[in-house]
Amino acid sequence: MTATAPLDVEALRKDFPILSRTVRGGRRLVYLDSGATAQKPRQVLDAEREFYEQHNAAVHRGAHQLAEEATDAYESARRRIGAFVGAPEGEIVFTKNATEAINLVAYSMSNAAFAPEPAAARFRIGPGDEVVVTEMEHHANLVPWQQLCLRTGATLRWFGLTDSGRLDLSDVESVITDRAKVVALVHQSNVLGTVNPLDAIVRRAHEVGALVVLDACQSVPHQPVDVTALGVDFVAFSGHKMLGPTGIGVLWGRRELLEAMPPFITGGSMIEVVQLAASTFAPPPQRFEAGVPMAAQAVGLAAAVDYLCAVGMANVHAHEQALTGYALDALAGLPGVRVIGPPDTTARGGAISFVVDGIHPHDVGQVLDDTGVEVRVGHHCAWPIVRRYGVPATTRATFYLYNGTDDVDALVAGIEHAKRFFGVGGAPHENAPRADRAARLRGDPG
Ligand SMILES: Cc1ncc(COP(=O)(O)O)c(C=O)c1O
Repeated sequence: MTATAPLDVEALRKDFPILSRTVRGGRRLVYLDSGATAQKPRQVLDAEREFYEQHNAAVHRGAHQLAEEATDAYESARRRIGAFVGAPEGEIVFTKNATEAINLVAYSMSNAAFAPEPAAARFRIGPGDEVVVTEMEHHANLVPWQQLCLRTGATLRWFGLTDSGRLDLSDVESVITDRAKVVALVHQSNVLGTVNPLDAIVRRAHEVGALVVLDACQSVPHQPVDVTALGVDFVAFSGHKMLGPTGIGVLWGRRELLEAMPPFITGGSMIEVVQLAASTFAPPPQRFEAGVPMAAQAVGLAAAVDYLCAVGMANVHAHEQALTGYALDALAGLPGVRVIGPPDTTARGGAISFVVDGIHPHDVGQVLDDTGVEVRVGHHCAWPIVRRYGVPATTRATFYLYNGTDDVDALVAGIEHAKRFFGVGGAPHENAPRADRAARLRGDPG
């Protein structure tokens, strides 16, 4: 196990200008919505500003000094972001966000029907073929596959969920049949917090010749991830959830697959030779980056990656694990509060969804907001999950490196306030909050 060092949350918070502002009439901002988007440290903001002030030009076009500097900055960002997830050179494709990265693979698969290159056959899909997803997917990793099935006549299948918020892997062979062409699943659920085991799924998918696409939106920002070690074929994640800017996401793909995959969006910068009647395409990653790319955002994301590396991803992960345990214990001690998802920190990250008996999740969110606690409410773009657990919506708290036990305490106080406000009680839960763990996290002696 890697040795980890505790995070100095107070010191880290000083890097995030937004965390020093107040909300709702002077209250401290308690930001518990990093699963939706993370806040940005000054280092990221400065890197973007510096790019625009000193180097701005269209990347991969023009031979002047600024164009050269902008291209160098963009390609240096690609190398640093690739190194952050263990990706070999040339396997990082920049997209607008994770949603676009997943759509890129799905559209490339249907475009393979028209691609003349024999290598594209690997991606062809049609009637009789199957696409496998899970019931815990974010819409970004569900709707593109539904649409792929509509366009091609393939059939959608899925893994269901257990009552405790895990994938039901009791019969992997019957869900991933030898007709499967692609298996798309989430690494860490944005609603349940569940971290999915990949080995059995990847083994079976590859046994039947299916590609595995991993949605790592909620794992890459929060734990060390080596994309090649996972054994999957494609990984998608978003910059804005890992301290980077909006407008940039990443698709990692194994080089030989990227080389064989037909393009999705076509136009300038992704071509090799263009004639009036037809064109040929550049090798990856350029083949998948049509148009002037998001250079400032790539530079900002590289600064975010540098920031996370300086803090240490193992430290970030250990901090969030401890905080999640603290929060789960605290919520278990609140009568009438039910967590939707695994009840402890085993194979689980820091997304905690819950319902409060007798209060609609939207009302819980509103009362929390009144106290300065910013959480997310709704179906969290994963509607099938809330349906599976028979709730209309959930209230969700998500953590990051700048959150501390004071934030969890504010969440708990806010929920208690909401219960008083709506006049709901509930029987005391048998698991009282663990005072010893709380003291340890706060760094109290003894
Ligand atoms: C698990 C998961 N997948 C995909 C997405 C989509 O990310 P984006 O909106 O940045 O494309 C999200 C965003 O919340 C997510 O949590």
